Parts: sequence; C-alpha cells; structure tokens
Amino acid sequence: MEIFRGVPRALAAACRALMTGGPAGTCARESLAWALGIPERVRVAGRAGVSSPHMTDLAGTDVPPLVEQACAAARRIGFPVTRDDPGHGRGSASLPGTGRFLAVLAAGCAGGSIAELGTGAGIGSAWIATAMPADCTLVTAEIDPVRAAAAAEVLGSDSRVRVLTGDWSLLLPPLGPYDLIFCDSGVRDAATFSGLVDLLKPGGRIVNDDITPFLALPADSPFRQADLKRDLFAGEPRLVWTEVVLPDLANSLLVGTRK
Ligand SMILES: C[S@@+](CC[C@H](N)C(=O)[O-])C[C@H]1O[C@@H](n2cnc3c(N)ncnc32)[C@H](O)[C@@H]1O
Repeated sequence: MEIFRGVPRALAAACRALMTGGPAGTCARESLAWALGIPERVRVAGRAGVSSPHMTDLAGTDVPPLVEQACAAARRIGFPVTRDDPGHGRGSASLPGTGRFLAVLAAGCAGGSIAELGTGAGIGSAWIATAMPADCTLVTAEIDPVRAAAAAEVLGSDSRVRVLTGDWSLLLPPLGPYDLIFCDSGVRDAATFSGLVDLLKPGGRIVNDDITPFLALPADSPFRQADLKRDLFAGEPRLVWTEVVLPDLANSLLVGTRK
C-alpha cells in the first residue's frame, strides 16, 4: 500500500492487518507492539493479563489506598468502575492509566490549583489528591448528587479538596484559573472547549481521556474519519497538544499545554 512507503516492513504489516481485519488482524496488535519496539514485558502483560512489577496498570496493583476507597464507594452506588460494569453509558471511572497520568501532572502543581469536570465517585480526584503537593488545591464538580456525595465521603477529610454538587460550567469558572484541568464530562463544542482553555494559566495543562488509539480502532470505525475530541484539541491554537497511548495499548488520552 502506497501509504506505507518508507515505513519499516514489520510495522507496515502490523498496520495493514489492523486496517484490513482478516486472520492477520488477530495478532496485529502484538505485531504492532513488536514493530514499534514495545518491550517484551508489556506485550506479555497485555496478552496474559499478567504483570511485571512495572505493569501495575494492567495488573491492577499499586493503586493508592484513597483510589481503592473511591472504587469501593463507586461500587456501593453502582457507578461503573470498569468498562464492563453495567451502566457504563452514563459515564464510568477513569482507567488506572489515566489516573496515574493525572497523578504525574498533579505532582508538578506546587502551589497550584486543579479542576475536574465530572467527579463521578471520586476516582480521578483520588489519584490527583494523592499525588498533588501539600500546597495545591483541587476542586471537582459533579452534577449527580448521589455520586457527588459518595466522592465527598471519600475525599472530604482532605482540606485541600472541594467536591461541589452541580454543573461544572457554573461552578468552576469563577474559581479559576487553573494549572491543570481534567475535562471528564463530555465537552462537545469548540466554544465550550475554548472557554476551558481560557481558564488555564499559561503553562497549564488540560487532559481529556476515553480516546481509542487510531491503530486500535476497527477498520470500519467512524472515528477513523473524524473524532470530536481530537478536533477540539487540534483546533485550539493556544494549545501544544499530543495523544498519549496508555500501557494497555487500547486506550489513550489527549493532553495540551497552554502556551
Ligand atoms: C466519565 S464520568 C467521571 C469520572 C471521574 N472523573 C473519574 O475519574 O472516575 C463523567 C461524570 O460527569 C458528570 N457530569 C455530566 N455532566 C456534568 C456537568 N455539566 N457538570 C458536572 N458533572 C457532570 C456525570 O454525572 C458523570 O458522573
């Protein structure tokens, strides 16, 4: 195929298998991982659901206690913790890979201020709160009062964290600007997204998850032609942004820094 000119043969073969389906498609992801030089331990972990000590996101280990508590609260109120749990269509908890990524960014927010749009049961907040410096604050808004109450119960003893009940678009802008915004409640238009970038300090970051890496999309997926979230990031001239594929190789997130 013309589009693979100059691409290493193994990588081209893996991409072709993913794009066309068919028998080769079954092993395409592993081939792709190999061709991209993804270490053996990642491929083994992904294939077998097993882990090396460093593949904690795949194995579900090394989760901070506060995150465990938020997961327990989510299960208590029937908020989906995994994509397989019932009710997933109404929003579900952030994946461990997303949580760990948020934690990395939050840890750099010394003296800063973080906002989350859509608390759920507090799982993303728990990742952030566990990692952020002592002088950093987090405010998170959740429109569903049952979810907000469950999250507040988990996070309420931390004076740096505020769980607000209501529409983020009313509650969070007056409390900005922010060093980090986790946009996790379905922002779907450029004007709203631009309003969020307004709320970022220069150098501040915005994260949006629940993306499927292009090469992991089925051949007939409409997201191969257009993807609203990627379009929002790409269409915002104040952001330097990229897509980060999570260790499961099946999910990714978008992260942008305000210039
Ligand atoms: C994907 S879930 C959030 C998951 C959570 N951030 C986590 O890390 O586990 C999206 C949440 O956004 C909430 N939501 C939807 N629209 C909202 C709005 N306008 N303001 C606040 N929360 C909203 C939903 O009720 C849902 O709980």
